[in-house]
Amino acid sequence: MEPLKGLILSGGAGTRLRPITHTSAKQLVPVANKPVLFYGIEALVDAGVTEIGIIIAPETGEEIRVAAGDGSQFGAEITYIVQDKPAGLAHAVLTAADFIGDSPFVMYLGDNLLRDGLRGLVATFLADEPEALILLTPVDDPSSYGVAELDGERIVRLIEKPKDPPSNLALVGVYLFSSSIFDAARGLEPSWRGEYEITEAIQALIDDGQRVQSEVVSGWWKDTGQLADMLEANRLVLEELQTRLEGEIDEESRVEGRVVLEPGASLVRSVVRGPAVIGAGAVIEDSYLGPYTSIGAEVQVRRAEIEHSIILSGSVVEDLGTRMEASLLGRNVKLTRSDGPPKTLRLLVGDSSEIEIV
Ligand code: G1P
Repeated sequence: MEPLKGLILSGGAGTRLRPITHTSAKQLVPVANKPVLFYGIEALVDAGVTEIGIIIAPETGEEIRVAAGDGSQFGAEITYIVQDKPAGLAHAVLTAADFIGDSPFVMYLGDNLLRDGLRGLVATFLADEPEALILLTPVDDPSSYGVAELDGERIVRLIEKPKDPPSNLALVGVYLFSSSIFDAARGLEPSWRGEYEITEAIQALIDDGQRVQSEVVSGWWKDTGQLADMLEANRLVLEELQTRLEGEIDEESRVEGRVVLEPGASLVRSVVRGPAVIGAGAVIEDSYLGPYTSIGAEVQVRRAEIEHSIILSGSVVEDLGTRMEASLLGRNVKLTRSDGPPKTLRLLVGDSSEIEIV
């Protein structure tokens, strides 16, 4: 078999993560201070797949190109492929036809995170040589995903976002394909949501009598398309953090549990209870940072308590008066308290923001 190529899908409007995605691609939102997309690239490289195509949208593509570059920082060679409209995953595959050629490939949705990486899957695919290998995982809300109906190990049927799911086994956003997926994708009609569904292309392979295998994911899997999932992914990744303290910690500060403090970051009269990561140049003063918190580079936190949250670079959080949790702040956000009366809220909030006041 020819070497596997990688295809990461990083278009998509990210509507469920607005307002962050008004100004930034959802695949670049950091989990434990690293863009979600980078986990996918690293997982491919780790499985020996270094020739990688990234599908980008015209609106957010440039930012992704700047972040991932030519791939050399990952030991990969990256080619960017523009998908002119968000017409579905099967459409994205067809857009990449020239890049893929006759090679088998791993398709990876750029907002997905898989704890156990891709090595095992790639090994199974190379050993068994099916036309497609899909990954499944049990979920609580199968109707939000593509769902598989199995008979023992055999896949009977795959349905995209079924109203009446035949099982709780969702398709994870990682697929291994031979080039036969192209013919299957070419034969599709748009689905009810107006997209060319990869789920239906795989169903077409099954209908055609081709061999489609499935495996159930062993570790956790997260699709980081919305806030709760993003925070959960952050928690799961931080759960495996190793302590590294390269910033400054004054005598009145305390670090408990596993914490990363990047160079140039400083803790002043503060308590950090890990797992937590604090980016380069961040300043934490007279504050408490609780478990599952990721603080971006150059963030300033003063007289505040933050837990289970993601704060992007350059933001300032001061004098909240109440603990902040389960929150995602974009870049350069200012959350402060004004000095004098009148006691009012003064806000400058972007489109689709969500604020809950206590
Ligand atoms: C897509 C696929 C779906 C799969 C999901 C995994 O859904 O269409 O089959 O279960 O990714 O993340 P979408 O993100 O387009 O809603």
